[in-house]
Amino acid sequence: MHWNALPPAEIQRRVHRALDRNLSYRTRTVLGLPGTLLDGEVFPALPDFAKRAWLRTATENPNHIGCHTLGSSEPAFAGTHGLEREVIAICAEQIMGAEPDTVDGYVASGGTESNIQAIWAFRNRWAREDGVSAGSIGLLCSEDTHYSVHKATDLLGLHIETVAVDTWSRALEARSVDASIERLQARGVTHIIAMLNLGTTMFGSVDEANALLGPLERRGIPFRAHVDAAFGGFIYPFTHDTTPLSFVDPRIDSVTLDAHKMLQAPYGTGIHLIRKGFLQHTTTETASYVPGLDCTLAGSRSGANAVAVWMILMTYGSEGGTAFCDALVTRTDRLCAGLDSLGIRYVRTPGMNVVAMRNEDVPAELSERYLLVADSHDDAKWRKIVVMEHVTDAQIDAFLADMSR
Ligand SMILES: Cc1ncc(COP(=O)(O)O)c(C=O)c1O
Repeated sequence: MHWNALPPAEIQRRVHRALDRNLSYRTRTVLGLPGTLLDGEVFPALPDFAKRAWLRTATENPNHIGCHTLGSSEPAFAGTHGLEREVIAICAEQIMGAEPDTVDGYVASGGTESNIQAIWAFRNRWAREDGVSAGSIGLLCSEDTHYSVHKATDLLGLHIETVAVDTWSRALEARSVDASIERLQARGVTHIIAMLNLGTTMFGSVDEANALLGPLERRGIPFRAHVDAAFGGFIYPFTHDTTPLSFVDPRIDSVTLDAHKMLQAPYGTGIHLIRKGFLQHTTTETASYVPGLDCTLAGSRSGANAVAVWMILMTYGSEGGTAFCDALVTRTDRLCAGLDSLGIRYVRTPGMNVVAMRNEDVPAELSERYLLVADSHDDAKWRKIVVMEHVTDAQIDAFLADMSR
């Protein structure tokens, strides 16, 4: 993984240059587009705004509708679309190991949209190329998989089966994989989408590709594999020499990342990545007023989100990103060492910043005081700590001291 950081002045210059290439509602006569500047009463274009590239982007409000790695797109905002293309290339090629120019993608509203988008593309490609009906497609995933995947199968009319995992390793159980496949087949499923997690929401655990894909290969079932790296994608690849769930594995077709988690981008910055050959299958032909049509779930979306991700990636570079993630992991190690010395069990994947403890091992008063998130509001079995930028050594030590009382 390697890309260079840019000096702050150069980052500002590049964003201003991209904006200068965009259509300006201030200087051009624009009668047809339903877009405009952000509301001038609430977001006045103060002189300072013009100097600050991201605030300028937000107020100039470029629309990034559609996908800019595939075919043509709205020329009015070509400048900032170019920055989004750079984001997709860095995420796909440097972070997720793809060969140059082999992956399409866009900045989605979040991990939910990106997961749905991948499953939609798989479904439509099978339907168009092989005549497979939605009722013949099943989705296989671990019980720790994010609920957005259940939204996707509900929306797209697909079957879903969840696989049991081991309590402490959170590894997929082989017998449960087989049983889930057989249950799908009993419901008429002939084609399977395998959902693999690079960092589950509750545990930060990482699925083993062969645990799901091996049985599908042995049974000769046609499959597509998606990696949900919404939680782990901007940390695991930075804290490990190799990332097992990435485009380096030819069986993996698509990846979700979320820049509004570890990357500290504003909400609305999920990153959708998918090998070329899929996204055209979700193109809506009736989007005829959009140049290049629209293959994304979102429709109109803010260019300021894509520019924010670009600025963060360029500010840190791969080395700065690695140092940032290493610092989170060091603080997580401190927490785990403290729990070890107290004899408290927990689940944690090395190199990740999530630690989950049994609910019964954490006094309710401490879960409340430290806002530890439960796996279920009604029936908590686990409580998690996510060591983010704002979580300090002192806060970790205070929690450990309270736990020892
Ligand atoms: C693993 C995983 N996938 C998907 C999502 C959904 O992401 P978003 O809330 O950005 O739509 C999350 C959110 O926490 C997640 O942890």
